[in-house]
Amino acid sequence: MPIIVSVAVALFYVLSVLSQLVSGKPSSTSSFTRTTSTKHGSTSTIPSPTATIARKNPKRGIAYASDVAGDVINANQTASVISWQYDWANLPPAYLATSNIKYIPMQWGAGSIDKLVDAVRAQGADTVLGYNEPDFSEESNIDPTEAARLWMQYIQPLKAYGVKLGAPAVTAAGTGRPWLQKFFAACSQCTIDFLPIHWYGSGTAGFYDYLWAIRAEHPNIPVWVTEYADTSDNATEVLTFMNDTMRYLDELEWVERYAWFGFFRPKTGIHYNLLKDDGGLNALGELYTGAKTVHTEIVSDAAFAEYQTVVGTDTAGQPLVTSWPVYEPSNGALRAASSALSYRTAFLGLSIISAVAIGGVW
Ligand SMILES: *[C@@H]1O[C@H](CO)[C@@H](O)[C@H](O)[C@H]1NC(C)=O
Ligand SMILES: *[C@@H]1O[C@H](CO)[C@@H](O)[C@H](O)[C@H]1NC(C)=O
Ligand SMILES: *[C@@H]1O[C@H](CO)[C@@H](O)[C@H](O)[C@H]1NC(C)=O
Repeated sequence: MPIIVSVAVALFYVLSVLSQLVSGKPSSTSSFTRTTSTKHGSTSTIPSPTATIARKNPKRGIAYASDVAGDVINANQTASVISWQYDWANLPPAYLATSNIKYIPMQWGAGSIDKLVDAVRAQGADTVLGYNEPDFSEESNIDPTEAARLWMQYIQPLKAYGVKLGAPAVTAAGTGRPWLQKFFAACSQCTIDFLPIHWYGSGTAGFYDYLWAIRAEHPNIPVWVTEYADTSDNATEVLTFMNDTMRYLDELEWVERYAWFGFFRPKTGIHYNLLKDDGGLNALGELYTGAKTVHTEIVSDAAFAEYQTVVGTDTAGQPLVTSWPVYEPSNGALRAASSALSYRTAFLGLSIISAVAIGGVW
């Protein structure tokens, strides 16, 4: 990721974790945390993802970075073409597990890696994603030799259960491809089924060049683009880039899957989010999912979120959701009834604290 994005994402992460502590709300931005395997409890029953519904796009997925659980509903519609999702964690939270969209677990970094086999098997997953940006100090940051050792001990055994293994997903920065070369050299016994990559930049030319450079270096392995976006601040350019690249990736036979970054609400300085402030789909979100908004969830100063069902114009057959979400307190209550502190107020206060903290680091 570009540095400005990293800072924004770091801020986003800090805020979401802190606000989670205050509000008791489950964080879905586990992309950026290492403690994922026990978060949702490994002993509870994990509903298995349902079979792909007809007319879904088998390649197109969502990178679920929203900090609101109910936002998934807009991708879980008859009209939506989304066929898979991930959230950088190794187990799906309940709202993703029940969303009818195939969930693909990830081993984000070295943390809790000993829990991976159990987590993957508990949910009956047939595919797992490797480390997230291990070449990047702000992400999983693992030495390639150590990454290979851990791979052989904890990830490779999944192969015996028929699970497809996705390689570590390096950044498109200068550190990425050399890291991957070292990893492959150190992990000659690893069996890699596909290669996830990330890309951020402006304009299709740079993206396509990167895709083909990766293909030239690893000609025998299918590619997944698990994070990508146009970072231009011009909305027309971002939309056109999305439109062009989706068609390109759909047609490129060695690209098996792709996921735009990402499925989340507006963040300062970011112009490639798929959701609006109320959780509805923005123009990018509508183009990407092929659906219109059926649900908004306004995060307000009230102690409870407000849920609203809106009538989608292209959602014939989709039952409108009128009560969402329902969580058992033991399963991590979405919003504690006794919570006196509102989410928004806490968020604002923590923003200031985090901004000061990050400013200090700078
Ligand atoms: C997803 O859609 C299916 C089918 O309409 C529905 O049964 C399920 O409850 C939905 N799940 C969520 C989380 O919206
Ligand atoms: C945004 O990009 C489009 C297409 O390149 C261009 O026509 C338009 O002038 C740009 N808008 C702004 C505000 O720069
Ligand atoms: C996407 O591309 C197609 C084909 O070029 C075009 O017809 C359509 O208008 C484009 N949509 C957007 C939103 O740019």
